[in-house]
Amino acid sequence: MITSRKISTVTVLAAVATLSMGPAFARGPAPDPAVKDFQRVVDAAYVKYKDLKDGKNADYIPILTETPSDLFGVVIVTKDGKVYSAGDVDYKFSIQSVSKPFTAALVMSQQSPEVLREKIGVEPTGMAFNSKLALAIYENSVNPLVNAGAIAAVSLVQATSEQDRWNKVQQNLSDFAGSPLTVLEKVYDSEYSTAWGNRGIANLLYNWGRLYSDPEEALRVYTRQCSVGVSARDLGMMGATLANGGVNPLTRKQVMPAKDVPELLAVMATAGFYDESGDWMYTAGLPAKTGVGGGIVAVVPGRFAIAAFSPRLNEAGNSVRSLKAIRDIAGELGVGVFGPNPN
Ligand code: DON
Repeated sequence: MITSRKISTVTVLAAVATLSMGPAFARGPAPDPAVKDFQRVVDAAYVKYKDLKDGKNADYIPILTETPSDLFGVVIVTKDGKVYSAGDVDYKFSIQSVSKPFTAALVMSQQSPEVLREKIGVEPTGMAFNSKLALAIYENSVNPLVNAGAIAAVSLVQATSEQDRWNKVQQNLSDFAGSPLTVLEKVYDSEYSTAWGNRGIANLLYNWGRLYSDPEEALRVYTRQCSVGVSARDLGMMGATLANGGVNPLTRKQVMPAKDVPELLAVMATAGFYDESGDWMYTAGLPAKTGVGGGIVAVVPGRFAIAAFSPRLNEAGNSVRSLKAIRDIAGELGVGVFGPNPN
């Protein structure tokens, strides 16, 4: 049994030991135990998958076929903003669906997590990101990470005009990244001129009272949101902001309330990979979000983010090399949220 006298002796000895290690150890939280391995695991994943050619660029948004398919970058960004990277981590590609959780976060911040749950819904569809069938089945719960729920989230952003709606969405994405993000106009033109499926979704939602602005306005702002240019490094910073309780590591701005982060991460864990979400959680164990531009960001809550970019996608619309690289890194570092995943 440890007596209070023993505790105080132990405490004093620990304090003396800490101080004798020098000021760096006496200040702040202990370093992340995995830090010494970050560059090694990033380099290893990059080298392992660099030459993998599986999958193909998205082509339903015509301009995405023009992204050089061999580009590949992998990055870890810690909650204090340290970056460990390999490959093409500064190439700007369109954020696409990786934008969705961040606009859901804006709805949570402006209104509340309850509004997101009630007015959009948080049930995963288990279906493709653009599924019209899911829309018919889950009329009252469309999930903010598939197209329907993401268009609804844009429509829920509190704004006085279309321009104001867009400014708020863009500012929020930039705040998460800690630097100004802008639209890749050619991607916007290519997507908006072919957005018949999403237009149908927006109109159906409006018909059911599940869209909260003019449908064409919501479609335009949503499409602009998806066309925002980001690098893998930017995605890492956005994820690190979530890992850091909603505070951007670079600017120190509180971008979303810390209390809402767990609910957002729960939605990412259950729907971030669409109809591959179960397989992803089973093998990688991390909340994450993918996009048809080839980006993926995964969050290790309270610690860091892992992001990657590679344009070739699998059948579910998820980047093949990004998925494998992040899953390997999560496994190597043993950071799955339910415990280390051997994957
Ligand atoms: O609405 C769309 O179809 C695209 N702007 C985004 C889809 C997407 O990124 C799905 N992700 N894997």
